[in-house]
Amino acid sequence: MFKKLFRQDENILNSELAEDLPIPRHVAIIMDGNGRWAKKRFLPRIAGHKEGMDVVKRVTRYANAIGIDVLTLYAFSTENWKRPTDEVDFLMKLPVEFFDSFVPELIEENVRVNVMGYRENLPDHTMRAVEKAIADTAHCTGLTLNFALNYGGRSEIITAAKEAMKELAREGKSSEDLTEELLNDHLMSSGLGDPDLLIRTSGELRLSNFMLWQLAYSEFYFTETHWPDFSKEDFLQAIIEYQNRSRRFGGL
Ligand code: FPP
Repeated sequence: MFKKLFRQDENILNSELAEDLPIPRHVAIIMDGNGRWAKKRFLPRIAGHKEGMDVVKRVTRYANAIGIDVLTLYAFSTENWKRPTDEVDFLMKLPVEFFDSFVPELIEENVRVNVMGYRENLPDHTMRAVEKAIADTAHCTGLTLNFALNYGGRSEIITAAKEAMKELAREGKSSEDLTEELLNDHLMSSGLGDPDLLIRTSGELRLSNFMLWQLAYSEFYFTETHWPDFSKEDFLQAIIEYQNRSRRFGGL
């Protein structure tokens, strides 16, 4: 069933993309608007998150189908603990349901799961689900599906800087020896490369503490669409717009 659906999607996706233009290697998404989507339908906020989880599955298939290497999704920020307990509890249960239902298909499609964030503060059941999904897909070599879970950009930079300074001290070097490369090596995204394209749904024009270091030269794409409504067409629109941007990285 998944394979069949997947193949159909692949054909549709490939037929609409310009073959001679680059596909972003790493796409990061701030999945915003679950609450507003639910409110519009007189549903509880968690209904929006549940619907959002299904969109994560679909978008993973599209990303895999067009040959993206890394898909990073902002699932829970270090600031999201401030939300009502019921909502936080629900958001912490979602990875359990998501991985239980989706990992067999991910393995079939050669998708590797990665999680960046402060794992030690996650509830036990969330942590167990995350670690199992990572272990079960560790052998996969295709798309990396990277969840930012209990993640915060500023805090990540501070942690990376401390780790980098410790490494320098061990080698008898000084703070003058700190380089961008060394700091980068200690970020939670180390090895994944910087996002080429950042997508944010639901009309907000801000970064919300997401990948502050890594997004320095990324292309940004904003859409009014709430995450639970984010469709294949929306995804393709973002990729097509990326294909038509001119990236100069500060040069001419
Ligand atoms: C932001 O919308 C969304 C979140 C804080 C949670 C994102 C989580 C999902 C999309 C579920 C998928 C997760 C996994 C692990 C598969 P909001 O609640 O801030 O929306 P609002 O701004 O309209 O209130």
